[in-house]
Amino acid sequence: MRHGALVAADVTGVAGKGTGGARAERVRLRTARGRSASSQRWLHRQLNDPYVQEARRLGYRSRAAFKLLQLDERFGLLRPGMRVVDLGAAPGGWTQVATARVGGSGLVIALDMVAMDPVAGALVLEADFMEEAGLGAVLNALAGTADLVLSDMAAPTTGHAPTDYLRTSALCEAAYDLAEQVLAPDGAFVAKVFRGGSEAGLLARMKRSFATVRHAKPDASRPRSPETYVVARGFRGPPAVEQS
Ligand SMILES: C[S@@+](CC[C@H](N)C(=O)[O-])C[C@H]1O[C@@H](n2cnc3c(N)ncnc32)[C@H](O)[C@@H]1O
Repeated sequence: MRHGALVAADVTGVAGKGTGGARAERVRLRTARGRSASSQRWLHRQLNDPYVQEARRLGYRSRAAFKLLQLDERFGLLRPGMRVVDLGAAPGGWTQVATARVGGSGLVIALDMVAMDPVAGALVLEADFMEEAGLGAVLNALAGTADLVLSDMAAPTTGHAPTDYLRTSALCEAAYDLAEQVLAPDGAFVAKVFRGGSEAGLLARMKRSFATVRHAKPDASRPRSPETYVVARGFRGPPAVEQS
């Protein structure tokens, strides 16, 4: 937990320091030989991104860890002893944050369709969540309720905004179906969605089942990225099935 507190302080530091300070000195690429323009742009951005540098310094596997830390700071999502499902977990930044915050008395189930190195304190599953086996693996491992369902799942972007929006919405909706099924009373759901926020039908479902539903883009989310997060808290239980 001490590690988590230290990190939270550092996050503010990163956001506050921006590109100032010695650590943020800009790195210039000396040679572009053999690199495409897009991979050159990616490398340049990585080398000059303070969150990438900070993630490396603190031992996080991804800069994405800071997105969850910042969402947690704002919404108070993670507490010791919680049972957490982390979907789209690889390479494991969110899993590292979640295991540190829930501690030894909690449970973190991390699933991804690509292989991921173990994280101490987490149960790591490799499966496609959009297939029955993926959902089954999570339900099996959970064997009960969850207090928080996280989804940072993202399909590779195509560059065609409507397609990317639909694919990310489908992942969010699948995660939400799980949340409605397993969340304990007062539980929470956090998922990545693309510009435009949650799809209208899904948002209406969330508003019926949760006390509050908000959209938030943490500082660590790149301004140019279309991603944002939906944060639903205070689960009231799934809506009653209407009798005809
Ligand atoms: C942005 S990355 C997650 C980063 C992670 N939260 C972290 O902190 O390191 C998105 C992940 O979603 C995963 N993903 C996409 N579709 C998935 C699916 N159908 N089932 C499981 N994982 C999926 C990808 O494999 C990728 O690892």
